[in-house]
Amino acid sequence: MHKIDIELVEMTMDIMKYTIDRISSTKHKIGKPKTAEELKKLVGETVTEKGVGGEHALKLWKKHLMKANVPIDHPRNLAFVPAAPTRAAVMFDLVVSASSIHGAYWMEGAGGIFCENEAMKWIVSLTGLPKGAFGVFTSGGTAANLSAIVTAREYWRSLDDDNKTRKGLIITSIGAHSSVKSMAKVVDADVLFVDTEDKMYADALQSKIDALTIDDRKRLFAVVATGGTTNAGIIDDLSGIGSICENEHLWFHVDAAYGGGALAADSVRHLFNGIEKADSITIDPHKWMFSPYDCGAVIYRKPELAKKAHAQEGSYLDIFKDEGAHGFNPTDYQIQLTRRVRGLPLWFSLAMHGTDKYKEAVERGLELAQIAGKLIEEKPFVELVRAPSLSCVLYRRIGWSPEDYTHWTYENHGKGFALVTPTKWKTGDSFETVSRFCFINPDTTEEDIDMILDSMK
Ligand SMILES: Cc1ncc(COP(=O)(O)O)c(C=O)c1O
Repeated sequence: MHKIDIELVEMTMDIMKYTIDRISSTKHKIGKPKTAEELKKLVGETVTEKGVGGEHALKLWKKHLMKANVPIDHPRNLAFVPAAPTRAAVMFDLVVSASSIHGAYWMEGAGGIFCENEAMKWIVSLTGLPKGAFGVFTSGGTAANLSAIVTAREYWRSLDDDNKTRKGLIITSIGAHSSVKSMAKVVDADVLFVDTEDKMYADALQSKIDALTIDDRKRLFAVVATGGTTNAGIIDDLSGIGSICENEHLWFHVDAAYGGGALAADSVRHLFNGIEKADSITIDPHKWMFSPYDCGAVIYRKPELAKKAHAQEGSYLDIFKDEGAHGFNPTDYQIQLTRRVRGLPLWFSLAMHGTDKYKEAVERGLELAQIAGKLIEEKPFVELVRAPSLSCVLYRRIGWSPEDYTHWTYENHGKGFALVTPTKWKTGDSFETVSRFCFINPDTTEEDIDMILDSMK
């Protein structure tokens, strides 16, 4: 397995050919979903005592397995938060794999970590956080949110011994991403919700805090605001919320996993004012900074607090912390020990293209949302649920039931035409099923949007 022979060399060529074709493709298809049973029938037994051979396995991948995936970078994949990694970043992801770098400690990964840090400096500069603020790349927004919450909780515990036995409490809004609730579960904290899926304003947060019992107020250690909600692209009142957190001595975390890329866009940067008051921020380069999966980031106003919370101890790790191994150790600032230098594809793409190209590509996503808004207003059978926000557009097909949306999604997916999924929007006490676009990919065209809308006729 670890020897080089002619078979391996040929396999390398085949794999390179496959990746070159894929990277340079402009016509990849939206795959058709299949059940595990159907896939098994198509490919048979692949993991056997003697192996089926690389050539055969690659053939199965190309012929059957790849076709059952939806490429996240398809221009008509507008579901969830899609992605559109740059070709430069995808290519360099291959280099990351081929280079076998351990990205936990400087001692082993100095060259890779240096590059990650160069990319990180740019991201941190977008936030306006003061000097000293810094971050690390994580496996995604969920891991970044968890790393930030653990840091906040450990800091709160360090302030008062009684906090060590208290169950923590976090306030966020119902517009916050599901990972905030899940990660609160991981740290065994309770979550209290400001009852809005729309923008969370400072006064609503203050009322929530003021209504707490004395005991619950003691349990409260953090507020999570969102810089671009997943469902609708809404940015909370970051400035007002930041000021409350400062006055109330609460950790202020901004989850900008999706919206963070828009910090690079001059046209909407002002909407994020107040983000510079944050104690920690989540931004996912694998969403709107055009990195391949997986690449999230967590940034701290005071990284030393994260280090206190996350640095792992073990006699086998001592050498990495020795003077002789001096350098920045990404593992100390988030939950993971062994890590891929997953910020490296972003670094290469930034170095190749420059940050202006990133601004342009993000602006295009914002523009596509406005274009979609206009098209929706022009067509009599659809209407906007709310004005487009960042690159999210919520709209309804007049007269449709929830089942109609589901059926339409399956039909378009099954045809390999588009992936646009329904969501729910809360007005008052009721939830309405609506359709949602999220634009990330600058290759999406007005014609794509028009065709998708017309398929609802
Ligand atoms: C606002 C927000 N936070 C967190 C996440 C979770 O990020 P990930 O899927 O990278 O773990 C998402 C994902 O869509 C998100 O939109």
